[in-house]
Amino acid sequence: MQVALVGLGVMGKNLALNLIEQGMTLVAYDKNPDAGEELLSCAKLQGMADRLHIVSDLADMVKRLTPPRSILLLVPAGELVDKVCNELVEAGVDCDDIIVDCGNSNYKDGITRKLKYQNKFEFATMGISGGAEGARHGPAMMASGSEGGWERVEPWFEKVAASYKGESCFARVGQSASGHFVKMVHNGIEYALMQLIAEMYQLLRLGTNRTPHEVADIFNQWSQGSLNSYLLSISSHILSLETDADEALVDLIDNKVGAKGTGLWTAQNALELGIAVPSLVAAVQARHLTNTGDTHAAKEMTYAAKSTTQIELDLEELKDAFLFASLLAYRQGLALIKGASRAHQWKVDLSKTLQTWRAGCIIRADYLDNIADGVEFIDTLEKESLALRKITGQAMMTGLAFPVLSSTQTYFATLTTPSNGHLVQAQRDYFGEHGIKTHSGEVCHLTDLVEIDAKVR
Ligand code: 6PG
Repeated sequence: MQVALVGLGVMGKNLALNLIEQGMTLVAYDKNPDAGEELLSCAKLQGMADRLHIVSDLADMVKRLTPPRSILLLVPAGELVDKVCNELVEAGVDCDDIIVDCGNSNYKDGITRKLKYQNKFEFATMGISGGAEGARHGPAMMASGSEGGWERVEPWFEKVAASYKGESCFARVGQSASGHFVKMVHNGIEYALMQLIAEMYQLLRLGTNRTPHEVADIFNQWSQGSLNSYLLSISSHILSLETDADEALVDLIDNKVGAKGTGLWTAQNALELGIAVPSLVAAVQARHLTNTGDTHAAKEMTYAAKSTTQIELDLEELKDAFLFASLLAYRQGLALIKGASRAHQWKVDLSKTLQTWRAGCIIRADYLDNIADGVEFIDTLEKESLALRKITGQAMMTGLAFPVLSSTQTYFATLTTPSNGHLVQAQRDYFGEHGIKTHSGEVCHLTDLVEIDAKVR
């Protein structure tokens, strides 16, 4: 099988080596010739250079490929994707060729591009997760669409992707550009889980006066059991790292956190679709808040520690609360995918989606086994839900900030306790005559139900 790859940055280079290793013949291009050279020398070192052809322009790439062509793009999301697509059209790609955008593109751009290029070539989308390591040894691949060209490349991607219990973490999750939507939500969940772990760390460190090393040990213990996840394991490792002068590595790092934008897109889409994902939104805003004014530098941690109320934590309870909050982050993400799928008629298969997240990706976690058959079971976890409630209360008492933990507790409480929406409905109608809906389903105004002599002015 012959495939082409445009874009040989960190992800591109590693995916290229993976594709070649799996037996594909690769024609590769990057506008920076050094990137091509570097890939070639890596392939040589690994004894795989005979299946790699580096080309110096896209016209040469198109010429070298036997039609129907299969071309993967791993270029930065945005205008560059269109630039490359247009150059490929000029170079001679045609209707039977498939071009798969594998970057972190906005799914809306994917929908537009499908229309824009429909008579020129088959434009398909696939989100890839797993960073450099995943790309090299098996990423999660969230593809979508029903383009004919998929049939050519799908069996290969099934091999290139990570696998979990013998099943590939490549899947065409739904129609149109839903693969990129799913990857976007993957990242939204990623933000929430990262922030949640950071909050667990901070609670243990500043709320119970533990060292980063001690927190690392606790995370490590959790990682030995059902809580095992990639993000928890890397956090444990990071917290255990010390300089030669015995300083914790984390104390050398500034607090301002950047973002490339997929978390923000997740939040924006959820708000537009009217689907509540408060933990995911809180994680995005938690990053924004780190950039607001001066953040605590490492030396200020001492001050923060002094002004924090110390608490006694039951570590088993903390673990249960963490597990429950983590599951609720996935629950919100999956609800968003389900809602978007319905709105766009994408027919996204949630079990296929979860299958792509089982290995290779950043949000892989052992406890996903439990939601493979549906998220409903989460609501039956009574001990864990009580733990989340108690730990959130204790955490707030420290005086520290827990945006994701508290939003998650609020999310669950909102779903499972009496609502106060009736008063808000009444307020809207009181001042704006927007109408209310009663328990019997009748739509009317407050004044249809009661006499109001004079409204408050
Ligand atoms: C992945 C990651 C990857 C990237 C994020 C980083 O699944 O491999 O999610 O896509 O690391 O886009 O996103 P931020 O820069 O926004 O944190």
